Amino acid sequence: MRDTTLTPGPRLLERLTWQELVAHHKLIGDLHLRQLFSDDPQRGEHLTAEGAGLYLDYSKNRVTDETLRLLLQLADDCGLPAHIDAMFSGRNINTSEKRAALHIALRAQVGEHIEVDGVDVVPQVYAVLDQMAAFSESVRSGKWLGYTGRVIRNVINIGIGGSDLGPVMAYDALLQYSRRDMCFRFISNVDGTDFVEATRDLDPEETLFIICSKTFKTQETLTNAYSARAWCLSTIKDERAVQRHFVAVSTNTDGVEKFGIDPANMFVFWDWVGGRYSMDSAIGLSTMIAIGEQNYRAMLSGFHAMDMHFRSAPFAQNLPVLMGLLAIWNNNFLGAETVAVLPYEQYLKRFPAYLQQLAMESNGKHVTLDGDPVGVMTGPIYWGEPGTNGQHSFFQLMHQGTRLVPCDFIGFCQPLNPVGRHHDLLMANLFAQTEALAFGKTQEQIATEGTPPWLAPHRMFEGNRPTNTILAERLTPEVLGQLVALYEHSIFTQGAIWQIDSFDQWGVELGKDLAQRIIPELEDVDAPKLEHDSSTKALILRYRRLRDE
Ligand code: F6P
Repeated sequence: MRDTTLTPGPRLLERLTWQELVAHHKLIGDLHLRQLFSDDPQRGEHLTAEGAGLYLDYSKNRVTDETLRLLLQLADDCGLPAHIDAMFSGRNINTSEKRAALHIALRAQVGEHIEVDGVDVVPQVYAVLDQMAAFSESVRSGKWLGYTGRVIRNVINIGIGGSDLGPVMAYDALLQYSRRDMCFRFISNVDGTDFVEATRDLDPEETLFIICSKTFKTQETLTNAYSARAWCLSTIKDERAVQRHFVAVSTNTDGVEKFGIDPANMFVFWDWVGGRYSMDSAIGLSTMIAIGEQNYRAMLSGFHAMDMHFRSAPFAQNLPVLMGLLAIWNNNFLGAETVAVLPYEQYLKRFPAYLQQLAMESNGKHVTLDGDPVGVMTGPIYWGEPGTNGQHSFFQLMHQGTRLVPCDFIGFCQPLNPVGRHHDLLMANLFAQTEALAFGKTQEQIATEGTPPWLAPHRMFEGNRPTNTILAERLTPEVLGQLVALYEHSIFTQGAIWQIDSFDQWGVELGKDLAQRIIPELEDVDAPKLEHDSSTKALILRYRRLRDE
């Protein structure tokens, strides 16, 4: 029987608070941020929150005190406190897969007690962390040798989705803290180019592959892993080399052994860790080799600090709750369809891509936990680019286009690479963009500048574009953990309001199944009659014809 305590009371659209929000939106939906700021000159100080090392300014959102009151009420009505308790206590909140979603246990403190099916998982987490630390140290110190006795200089992570995006994003984000004399690369795409470009200038005798796959069944990852094996053995020419050049991170011991990896060099995780929530499980092995155990543990403590903040801070001061509720307001009431994530920090260049899986695989759902249609838009589209690059490409649409694009601006007060005036210029741009998006430029302002009337409409900025600004002192491993956990819990908050399962991903299955059917049709041109729609069939036939010419 399904646990119904997570879906208390009426459906979302039937909730009184939801209806009050609809009515409230009719009243204040057009209210301009200019008005809101002039009504409360201290708004930029009032509508802020600070917790777990991060500062959130959400004053440039189109909300009044009443909007916030109603959103906070909605969180209570939808049982957000019970959802949070259920997650932290290891209940099966991933209801469609009958699993816990317990990534918070990956960064629990020593001595904490978190049970899954009556077993405390914290000691298991620490045992794997210690195993990772010992292995990382032996690679970093040069003790772990390749099969021919050479020191490992190159580490290649092979994985896809959550088994790739977290490691890549964290490696880029923490480059300053990483071993610059080693080479770290990441292969995910089944496109052979990814494999060839990642390996072309490397020596197999100095290369270690980390095969990351929760299931150890993913087509892309296994294809790349077997190509890596062949690449390695084409030089070393001894099967026993696999044990020195390949390690695995997985929940599937049989699959790992079948590949030929020594189970002693397997780093486990558990089915209660979702792929997109796994960057701080053993999936982070490449991160730990790059930045070292101490920095890795600092990153975990950042995650933990945000977990504790989410669990205990009152909702009105709770960063992930506020961000989640504002996303609901922007998406469901103001009609925005996306969230642009704009880190003003070059090292976070892959952060938006990481968030795409986290947010969209989690909340791209059309039914509730009960299997009924949600009835409202879910999962906004997350995307973005580092500032200031985005300013010179898509910001035009955000300032003057007809769509509403709420943005999260992320900035740091101290640069990791102080070079002349660069950092002040960078941050000036961040602050200027949020100001311009909020307040725009009126007809009157334009007229006083002497702009001819025919040009005035083109130079007018409507403003009233909502933004959040997240500020931290400096990008450190700890702060990266805080940031990722902030988004994890904001996404969780949104899922709880929509009453959806944020931890399954059935939507990826159909394409996988169909690809399995098409593979033999491409590989064997004598395959039985192609049973497809006319478009797919014609494309397959054309591909086969041109490929074989
Ligand atoms: O795309 C679906 C998915 O299952 C993701 O959720 C997951 O992160 C990815 O594939 C990789 O899965 P695995 O780690 O099992 O190879």
